[in-house]
Amino acid sequence: MTENQPQAPITSMDGWRDQWMAARQNPDAFWLARTRELIQWRTEPTQGLHGDFSTIKDGPLTWFADGKLNITESCLDRHAAATPDKTAILWEGDEPGDVQHISFAQLLEKVCRLADALGKLGIQKGDRVIIYMGMVPEAAVAMLACARIGAIHSVVFGGFSAEALRDRVRDCGAEVVITQNVGRRGGRNIPLKAVTDEALEGERGVKGVIVFKRTDDETPMVEGRDHWWHDVCANASPNTPATECDAEDALFILYTSGSTGKPKGVVHTCGGYITYATYTHKTVFGIQPDDVYACVADVGWITGHSYIVYGPLSNGVTTLMFESTPMYPDAGRYWDMVQRHKINVFYTAPTAIRAIAAHGDDFVTKYDRSTLRVLGTVGEPINPEAWQWYHDSPGEGRCAVVDTWWQTETGGICITPIAGATPTKPGSATLPMPGINPVLMQADGSGKVMWGPGEGHLCIEYPWPGQARTVWNDHPRFVATYFQTYPNYYFTGDGCKRDDDGYHWITGRVDDVLNVSGHRMGTAEFESALLIRDEVAEAAVVGYPHPIKGQGVYAYIVLQPGQEATDELPKLLQQEVRTNIGVVAKVDKFQFIPGLPKTRSGKVMRRILRKIAEGQPDAIGDTSTLADPSVVETIKAGYQG
Ligand code: WTA
Repeated sequence: MTENQPQAPITSMDGWRDQWMAARQNPDAFWLARTRELIQWRTEPTQGLHGDFSTIKDGPLTWFADGKLNITESCLDRHAAATPDKTAILWEGDEPGDVQHISFAQLLEKVCRLADALGKLGIQKGDRVIIYMGMVPEAAVAMLACARIGAIHSVVFGGFSAEALRDRVRDCGAEVVITQNVGRRGGRNIPLKAVTDEALEGERGVKGVIVFKRTDDETPMVEGRDHWWHDVCANASPNTPATECDAEDALFILYTSGSTGKPKGVVHTCGGYITYATYTHKTVFGIQPDDVYACVADVGWITGHSYIVYGPLSNGVTTLMFESTPMYPDAGRYWDMVQRHKINVFYTAPTAIRAIAAHGDDFVTKYDRSTLRVLGTVGEPINPEAWQWYHDSPGEGRCAVVDTWWQTETGGICITPIAGATPTKPGSATLPMPGINPVLMQADGSGKVMWGPGEGHLCIEYPWPGQARTVWNDHPRFVATYFQTYPNYYFTGDGCKRDDDGYHWITGRVDDVLNVSGHRMGTAEFESALLIRDEVAEAAVVGYPHPIKGQGVYAYIVLQPGQEATDELPKLLQQEVRTNIGVVAKVDKFQFIPGLPKTRSGKVMRRILRKIAEGQPDAIGDTSTLADPSVVETIKAGYQG
């Protein structure tokens, strides 16, 4: 493999091994070659990695630091020049058959117009813009318009509440919010503009709100602050030039949940992120130029950033945006779309696979799936039964199934089969991407690296271009969260088994992060919402296995003296959670208990609460360090099975 020759696609295990070894032996040469062949630079970088995990406490590491680019030239301009009429975004609205085809030339024009409009509202390079929208093409336009002028976008998932939106607006200091009057999902309206108004009440930092008109519903507009998307774009330039950025300028902030505190604003930068998203998208799915590619995630999550918008557009393929749900109008919606749009590559989450599998094969087999080649899954561990069903039924036993493990922080896929190359095992994410060196750490706190088969905490040993650089405005928190548990390693927060073949089996989070239907939420966020109510003295929230959602949410509540667990109380507590986090957050089970199991030093033993919630009270283990071991028996007796 010489430096400037495009790399051949990986089609065999030997091919994978060659590339993995090349990236391991000379990461700088490997990644410089990939970025030059895949990305449109204005000034090609000559530098690879600067800094590493041992120096990260002193400041972010960098990739390609001397390169200059604007990532929209990779995602739009070069394709608008070469294939102007090719569909860039294929939109399927909430109602089946409500379809739009937006070509690369049209998408570029839409992006230029909104970019110009943002500029006229005073947005400049480095300023932050919040995007609070549903799955309309305009959400992707908004992201790219920010990138066009070097502004930093932060997409907030449309299922988050006004409180959650306000927190994010404040944390990143956003000056403009882009939203839509209402969202549509499963035949219902989602009041995005109304929630935005509530979030922005009294927020003086926000000088403008741009509102895309999704429906004709009446929409109150705030004089002087709110602007209709169609008005500002009608009067804007269709040729806004791209602002030149440094490779390490921030491209976006995405808030994600951790073990403690409020969600953190994970920061991704231009050059490394676009390289990694483009490379992994092309390699993992074996993307062909004429593919119709469909990832049915939401742009509010990292999967939507990397594998609906940035990766596919940079690769110049048609990317589907899907506004609805897998169940609307019935469980056949995905395969109905596959037939109508002749989809070749389809990417979804285990929770959706389990939900539609429960409705039987008839919803699948009545549609033609012969165009499908690759089926992907992401977001949570996939159980072997769901994997097998995905492979046999939608995939007719002939499609490659790729179980892709990665995180908001990793920017792109890290452990995965390569379609058509890696032999799969149902339930295993298999092997690392070139450039990713996973290691397992003994879970006993000794900090020892494990060799060979075993189960431990998943870390990554060496930097890669797509990884997050910092937490917005809080680099110490970035270092403390990811680089202190295992010094000089990136700690993922996941547990993992490695088998005799070196294959990886992700077992789920080992910290206090919940994964409900592929949505990542912190137990701490639930607990602080529950504690807002006066009746509550203490709250502890844990996850438990759920057959469809992957994890359910179990809340233990200690009431204030004199308070009673009325029938009404769970509803009020649920309402508080919804107000503070959003409709995505739901407690499945409440248990009212007299006290939490605490050590003599006052630390809550969550392990015990987890085991009881999991319905495994006999696996609790040693309780001798508890201040009052008798609480355990009371909690066991009140288990909400
Ligand atoms: C989990 C989503 C098992 C994991 C891209 C990780 C997975 C968290 C898989 C990140 C997978 C993601 N198998 N678990 N294939 N993919 N996860 O940041 O626990 O929303 O740490 O990124 O999802 O969630 P996030």
